[in-house]
Amino acid sequence: MTTKININGDIQDEAFISILDHGFLFGDSIYEVICTDHGKPCFLDEHLKRLYGSASGISLDIPHDPEWIKTQIQATLDSAGNTESYIRIIVTRGVGDVDIDPSSCFHPNLIILVKQVPQIPDESYEKGIAVALVSIKRNSRDALDPAVKTGNYLNNVLARVEAQKSGAADAIMVNPWGQLTEGTTSNLFFVRDGRLLTPEKDCGILSGITREKIIQLAQENGMALEEGKWPGEELLHADEIFLSGTVKKVMPVSILDNRPVGTGKPGPITQKMMRLYGELLESLT
Ligand code: PDD
Repeated sequence: MTTKININGDIQDEAFISILDHGFLFGDSIYEVICTDHGKPCFLDEHLKRLYGSASGISLDIPHDPEWIKTQIQATLDSAGNTESYIRIIVTRGVGDVDIDPSSCFHPNLIILVKQVPQIPDESYEKGIAVALVSIKRNSRDALDPAVKTGNYLNNVLARVEAQKSGAADAIMVNPWGQLTEGTTSNLFFVRDGRLLTPEKDCGILSGITREKIIQLAQENGMALEEGKWPGEELLHADEIFLSGTVKKVMPVSILDNRPVGTGKPGPITQKMMRLYGELLESLT
């Protein structure tokens, strides 16, 4: 159960960052979350590609190459010695003037936090979780593009708070045009008449690594899948809903806005995808 923090190549038990870092002052940072499976970081190349994509999305130069980051991740994992780990890579703009202009920040900070993977109760996977379609909108792509994984998650924080007030564990957000987007830290899939549906990237979502794998699995296994644009109300007619993400993997949703989804239990397509994704992770080892 050890936590280790690697700051710019220095591995410590605890770490501190200046309050003058623009990551702290303005949420001017990017991040990635990776989990290990059998001790090995899963889909590491895909996550690093997205990290560099996010950096370019906020005009931030990461002062190291992917190989350096990989070496540092391994050193931090070895130092923590957990069976399975949660890895969070954060790159901040660095210390500068107390002014939003990033040009006073010359040294981005690269932090790798390694800790035990958060335990999600088996019951959540067996019974499904409750979500709420909230009033907080997902940022529009031409405001803060959700495809860029920045450290500015206040939009999602507020959505989660609204969901929790209604008794739900997570939120589903629509974009400013009322189209379905995603959860607060996960992508959205739902089933109508046997077809697996997921909001397309144009709706303003993070292009989830898990989402991509699910789309591939659906295609390889002859499952009908469609990426598209749907109004929020469409979800009220879903036969099944599930969320996807690095930590949650494939998480069934059994309650939407305090009403059962379909039969109120994880449905057959969700269960099939849970199994296929589990097998995919197994096959990587
Ligand atoms: N979140 N959408 C959002 C807004 C996310 O933050 C995430 C991931 C996803 C799923 O992406 P992926 O399958 O690549 O994990 C979708 C991570 C887990 C987090 O912030 O903790």
